[in-house]
Amino acid sequence: MKILVTGGAGYIGSHTCVELLNAGYEIIVVDNLSNSKQESLKRVRQITGKSLSFYKADILDSTALNEIFIENKIEAVIHFAGFKAVGESVNFPLAYYHNNVTGTMRLCEAMTKHGVKRMVFSSSATVYGNPVSVPISEDDPVGATNPYGRTKQIIENMLGDLQVSDPEWNVALLRYFNPIGAHESGLIGEDPNGIPNNLIPYISQVAIGKLNELKVFGKDYQTKDGTGVRDYIHVVDLAAGHVKALEKLLGSTGIQTYNLGTGKGHSVLDMVGAFEKAAGKKIPCCFVERRPGDIDISYANPAKAQRELGWRASKGIIEMCEDTWRWQSYNPEGYITHKLHYITSANTVVNYEESL
Ligand code: NAD
Ligand code: UFG
Repeated sequence: MKILVTGGAGYIGSHTCVELLNAGYEIIVVDNLSNSKQESLKRVRQITGKSLSFYKADILDSTALNEIFIENKIEAVIHFAGFKAVGESVNFPLAYYHNNVTGTMRLCEAMTKHGVKRMVFSSSATVYGNPVSVPISEDDPVGATNPYGRTKQIIENMLGDLQVSDPEWNVALLRYFNPIGAHESGLIGEDPNGIPNNLIPYISQVAIGKLNELKVFGKDYQTKDGTGVRDYIHVVDLAAGHVKALEKLLGSTGIQTYNLGTGKGHSVLDMVGAFEKAAGKKIPCCFVERRPGDIDISYANPAKAQRELGWRASKGIIEMCEDTWRWQSYNPEGYITHKLHYITSANTVVNYEESL
């Protein structure tokens, strides 16, 4: 069965490709590589020993999408493609609305045209804004506080309206909490551009010596140690959640929202401690002012996903940090092929290119 994965070369997409291939699905990736490298897909192939099709194309390009749907009998779409940086979305809101909202509209138009009506969509816990209480349940009020979050909310509403207009549509809206970690092989992981905004990629670059110290944003939050609390989820657990959501879509119609989180909150200092343990290194830290827009505490009630999808996160924060550290140490410069220990000959690389 063929599944179209938009944004499949990215961080969460590449890990989901591994899980999909391991579960026996055929996959077609469409990605414009605006925030990723094709190397990630070669490594997906190396991990799984299976091939996949790749189209370097933009989801805003209706002609390209049309061709992809004509060339492939696609049964469902897992839609990751989009911009995701909160700060950038404040500075460039139109770019975010265009890429995320218009991009999803183009994709839905192409799907409608070709009679493909199943979609798993990457939403975010950011839609909850400042939560009224924790743990956060799917029917708690939404109210994103930044343009990026608002694009997710708009897309959720748009997909809801589409499903009402045509009940044959079947949509899963997955609200991720804080994805971290990497595949246990150390071959794929998060490869941020420039100085990371997010906690774990930042800590990881301190550990490898690229950055001097972690700046802990705020020490007076209403939490056990004064630092912000989040629900960190291993990216491989998250990827497995997509396979479960897809299985559900294949057997029913409607629209459902699921929190994908562990249900546990950890503070910034907890994560520093876990990383120090995993890497066997001290992480120098200093406290600075709060980061504007940050909230005290956020963690999921994941009961609905457990109940309806039969999915539950299984990996703890030490494993998340160990896997991040393995990825970071094997790939200090991210996806740069010539530094890799596992590419043994030019032929190996050529073969990957051919199979994509
Ligand atoms: P990512 O940037 O690594 O992956 C997104 C991929 O989409 C990239 O490979 C990028 O090149 C591609 N892309 C972007 N715009 C495109 C377009 N117009 N056409 C084709 N390809 C395009 O990000 P990620 O962390 O893997 O996130 C995947 C999805 O999950 C995103 O929609 C993001 O908003 C959502 N999400 C991420 C997080 C997180 O913390 N990483 C949390 C919640 C939700
Ligand atoms: N933090 C620091 N120092 C840093 C970076 C982060 O102290 O250098 C703190 C933050 O203040 C926060 C915690 O670490 O308390 C986590 O921050 P992240 O930036 O890693 O994650 P956020 O919870 O702010 O947001 C992330 C994504 C959003 C997404 C959200 C929920 O950036 O896009 O998770 O999925 F919406």
